[in-house]
Amino acid sequence: MDGKFLWGTATAAHQIEGNNVNSDFWLAEHVTPTLFKEPSGDACDSLHRYAEDTALATSLGFNAHRFGIEWARIEPEPGEFSPAALDHYKRVLDDCHSKGLTPMVTLSHWTVPRWFAARGGFEQADSPDTFARFTEQVAKHLGPLMGAATTFNECNIPRLARLLFKLDSPLAQAGIQAMSAACAKACGSDRWSSVLFSSPDKTEAQMVAAHHRAVEILKAGPGSYPVGLTISMQAVEGIGPGNKAAEVADALYGPWLAAAKPCDFVGVQTYTRIRVGAEGPLSVPAGSEMTDAGYEFYPQALGETVRFAAKATGKPIYVTENGIATGDDTRRVAYIDGALDALRKARADGIDVRGYFHWSLLDNFEWTAGYAQHFGLVEVDRTTFKRTPKPSAVHLGRIARADSI
Ligand code: FCB
Repeated sequence: MDGKFLWGTATAAHQIEGNNVNSDFWLAEHVTPTLFKEPSGDACDSLHRYAEDTALATSLGFNAHRFGIEWARIEPEPGEFSPAALDHYKRVLDDCHSKGLTPMVTLSHWTVPRWFAARGGFEQADSPDTFARFTEQVAKHLGPLMGAATTFNECNIPRLARLLFKLDSPLAQAGIQAMSAACAKACGSDRWSSVLFSSPDKTEAQMVAAHHRAVEILKAGPGSYPVGLTISMQAVEGIGPGNKAAEVADALYGPWLAAAKPCDFVGVQTYTRIRVGAEGPLSVPAGSEMTDAGYEFYPQALGETVRFAAKATGKPIYVTENGIATGDDTRRVAYIDGALDALRKARADGIDVRGYFHWSLLDNFEWTAGYAQHFGLVEVDRTTFKRTPKPSAVHLGRIARADSI
């Protein structure tokens, strides 16, 4: 990374590769009962079509590409590593370099191997060792080709999910428990733990430890590249006297901002804002425009979050995700413009932001919501997998090519 501003899109292995059959999510998508609207299936078939994706990214005007490697493919059984899977990701990395795209690799984007979930996931005391063993293989085989790496995607998602998706409610908990019990049973286990649905009280200490181990391993080489983590960071706005904004922000981000200490950068992932009054989080203002993900349309949140993360950590910032679920592409263009305006102002004020990765390149598998939410700059035909760029793709690509930041 030679000082240039990175312009790219962000993707995640499970959401685009397809047939991630050995992952915890694949099983959770197929048990009864499940919280998933539909299974991920072939997704965007990017396992086979990754070169089409990178060709699109380059031709649109981007100079970087964020993607995830899939632990469930690399370590299909405990301690059994697949050289073929590692070679696959080596080819993806080579392909990025050959197209002038700096690759930013996510080690773990929510999914884990099903055997790992069935032994208790990150609730297990020895899970940091297991994650370190996986990271060692990744570092050894892929390190020389990495442009940048992050350990966990949205490491704080168990905290955020409780607030944004109300995962603590009795109804949500009943659904999670029932789905997890069905997954455990399918594996002949008495336990099951998936990152997204886990309780931070049970998993966070081990995830923090796993993150620290992974940073150390990646930094030891081979290869030399910046290492960070990414935080789901919505702007927390205090409303009125005695508001609890500082407490809420600390509860959502505090432990992970601290865990960024050994990192070279922090990845900020912003979609909206959370307003907080004296009694805690407030509902969105009446009459607000809402996105298809149920978030308030509030692109300027990005300016606030990059400032917050930079001040809290003193680290350089990459925007590793930012985007909008909408069927109206003109709103995506407006969202991009609003977010980039806020980013430019933050940079003008001296905030060290070094890249912008839009979520996402493709319309993809949006976790429990299935394929109904459209975050992509590019539409994907669900049967032929034909990729068709939307006007917003051309719009952001033009900004990227002009390096207008
Ligand atoms: C983020 C996730 C990403 C995607 C977007 C819409 O929280 O990191 O995988 O689902 O939201």
